[in-house]
This record gives sequence, C-alpha cells and structure tokens, in this order.
Amino acid sequence: MALSGLFITFEGIDGSGKSTQTRLLADRLRADGGDPLLTREPGGSAGAEEIRALVLTGDPDRWSAETELLLFNAARRDHLEKTIQPALDAGRTVICDRFADSTRVYQGATRGDLRATVDKLHALMIGREPDLTFIIDMDPEEALKRGLARKSGEDRFEDFGLGFQETLRHGFLSLAHSFPQRCAVIDGGRDPAQIASEIAAHVAAHGDGPA
Ligand code: ADP
Ligand code: TYD
Repeated sequence: MALSGLFITFEGIDGSGKSTQTRLLADRLRADGGDPLLTREPGGSAGAEEIRALVLTGDPDRWSAETELLLFNAARRDHLEKTIQPALDAGRTVICDRFADSTRVYQGATRGDLRATVDKLHALMIGREPDLTFIIDMDPEEALKRGLARKSGEDRFEDFGLGFQETLRHGFLSLAHSFPQRCAVIDGGRDPAQIASEIAAHVAAHGDGPA
C-alpha cells in the first residue's frame, strides 16, 4: 500500500500572502520532481465552490456565525471526500490554502465564543488535521492594504474592518501555541522569495522527498 501524502495547510489573516506562498511551494515541489495538489478553502471541489459563493459574497450580516459554521463544514466535508483524501491516498502532497484552523478562528473566536461548537462539529464531520500548518503572521494594517488593492468581490470578511483582522491575528497566534507540533509561524512581512525559502526548508525537514 502506498504511503499517504503530506497534508500541508496555510493559514493567516486576509492578504497575508497565503495564496502566493501556496503557489510558490507547489512550484518548488514540482521543480523537485513532485506532483503536489494545490487547493483552497472554501472550495476545492465542485460542490464546495458553490458554497464558497454563498459565504463570501453579499452583506457582512448575511449569515450568523452559527450558519457560517455549518456552511464551511459542508464545503470542507465535500472537499475532503472528493479532492483531499483521494490525493493523499494516492501518495500526493496536498497544499491547501486555509482549512479547519480558519473556522476555529473566524467562526470560533470572533463573534461570541463558538470554539467548543466548532471543535465538536469538526470531530464529528471532518476528523482530519494537517501534518504541517504554516501560519503567516503580519501586521493587519499592511495586509488590509494589500487586500483592498486587490478587491476581488469576495470581500465579505475584509469588510468587517481592521479590529476584526487584529482579533484574527491573535486567534491564529494562539492556535499556533496550542498545536506546536504541526504549526510554524512565518513572518509574512518580508520578501516573498525569502518567505518561500523558509517554508520550503520546513517542508524538507518534515518529509522525506518530493511527492
Ligand atoms: P492571501 O491569500 O493571504 O489573501 P495573497 O497571496 O493573495 O494573500 O496576497 C495578497 C496581495 O499581496 C497580492 O496582491 C500579492 O501579490 C501581495 N503579496 C503577497 N505576498 C507578498 C509579500 N511578501 N510582500 C508584498 N506583497 C505580497
Ligand atoms: P480566502 O479566499 O482565502 O481569502 P483571502 O485570500 O482574503 O485570505 O478566504 C475567504 C474568506 O473566508 C476569508 O476571509 C476567511 C473566510 N473563511 C472563514 O471564515 N472560515 C473558514 O472556515 C474558511 C476556510 C474561510
């Protein structure tokens, strides 16, 4: 039986450079002869992409945190069944832009304390943690400038404002503290190539060859 691939996730506030770094890591693993799967949440499977449109567009008050929690878990379950698990079973490295830590922080710790509910639902419906998580940490004001310059139309969370992003930053740092074995905090306020090298070194230290 083939060994399961490595499951790597990227987390952090909006605009911290996750998408950029997931791409750079995938490029590097490919250059080394690997065949990584690059995917993202919410989304990454046909059904989950449909749910993405529901949660990321429209009024900031469109959904309560509880309803969001159900939608993100529905999307994640589909993504895990259809995309992530089959790739891991085939021995591929999976690089995912956001995963359950985003739910722990965005839905679990920003509008009332829903963390216990988030953890119960995760245990019940998902039950999978990444092998390695990069938490890209940076000043929310700088990140927001990058994000606002981008304006994708999927800005429901960015529209909550700077105080919200500060709460998120502390939420992610506290998660890194709670899960030190799988989480590495990366300073995202630097040159993208420098960040990518640090991340690649962590991955090389964790795995044993490209997949
Ligand atoms: P995220 O996926 O975390 O929202 P992105 O990778 O999409 O972040 O980056 C947000 C914006 O910032 C993009 O326009 C991207 O080109 C730019 N960017 C990403 N990383 C850096 C960096 N290290 N320094 C400066 N700008 C960056
Ligand atoms: P993403 O497209 O990664 O946004 P960005 O590139 O700005 O970081 O994610 C979309 C938004 O969805 C982001 O603001 C975080 C939010 N989100 C949650 O609230 N809960 C979740 O479980 C996930 C996966 C994302």
